[in-house]
Amino acid sequence: MELSNNTILLTGGTSGLGYEFARQLLDLGNTVLITGRDQNKLDQTKKKLPNVHTFQSDVSDPQAITQLFETVTKQFPKLNILINNAGEMRKLNLIDPVIDQENVNREIAINLSGPVRMVQQFLPHLMAQQAAAIVNVTSGIAFVPFPLAPIYGATKSGLRAYTQALRVQLKKTNVKVVELVAPGAKTPLNDKFEGDVDSRMMMEPDKLIAVAIKGMMKDKLEILPGIAGILKYLSRIAPNFLFNQMSKIAEKSLARPTVRQAQLAVL
Ligand SMILES: NC(=O)c1ccc[n+]([C@@H]2O[C@H](COP(=O)([O-])OP(=O)(O)OC[C@H]3O[C@@H](n4cnc5c(N)ncnc54)[C@H](OP(=O)(O)O)[C@@H]3O)[C@@H](O)[C@H]2O)c1
Repeated sequence: MELSNNTILLTGGTSGLGYEFARQLLDLGNTVLITGRDQNKLDQTKKKLPNVHTFQSDVSDPQAITQLFETVTKQFPKLNILINNAGEMRKLNLIDPVIDQENVNREIAINLSGPVRMVQQFLPHLMAQQAAAIVNVTSGIAFVPFPLAPIYGATKSGLRAYTQALRVQLKKTNVKVVELVAPGAKTPLNDKFEGDVDSRMMMEPDKLIAVAIKGMMKDKLEILPGIAGILKYLSRIAPNFLFNQMSKIAEKSLARPTVRQAQLAVL
């Protein structure tokens, strides 16, 4: 895949992997459009990357996706690459009585329904371009359930399955379907998981995205930076071992009192 002179729409470009994607794709001579919910974060990103185009848009809101499509395709009719990167990951204790019933499945709306809706909205436009691509950012967690973030894990396995199915359906079109299976990385997404996962296992975002871009240039359809490849391999040869390791992390973390429980204990 040629990775210069494209017009690229990247969801969640104000932080972590999305920010790095935007920075490196701009350096390669692409027109880069990013989204995010927080206008302040978009403004800060624009200051750091003056050539980036910012759009406030929530990928979990179907109306916002329609609006985004109308705005960006009018301003950037050559848009030919969509990167579904925006995502959220929460530590959830499913037996916590104060769990928010309405929001328990919030990650499904952002991480799974969001990319599916984005693809459905932008696909006719992408198919009308000479060469186009859709990149979905999944996770090493797609290979094994992660009991500490149960909804997140379900969304990433689901997104991986959807991406593979989409690739088959688009086989005879001009739209390539790429999956970036990201391993753990040092981004704000993991702030809530400090102490749960060894940070030495986490990849630097700039290195991870450099591997992703190199993979895309080599026309790889499944890109597995860092330990993502090891996770895939282990999920095949030793799935129970891998699941037990993930379960131990969850059990240890959930056994620790939450900040609120600690506060109540002091009172
Ligand atoms: N970091 C890791 O260890 C890791 C590992 C595997 C996979 N991934 C995946 O990589 C992707 C990027 O993660 P990250 O680590 O870079 O996270 P991050 O640093 O927390 O950044 C997330 C980005 O997504 C945006 N975002 C969140 N919800 C959104 C929504 N509803 N609509 C639009 N934008 C939204 C955020 O901006 P706003 O908050 O302003 O909306 C932000 O720009 C995610 O899909 C994540 O699941 C990350």
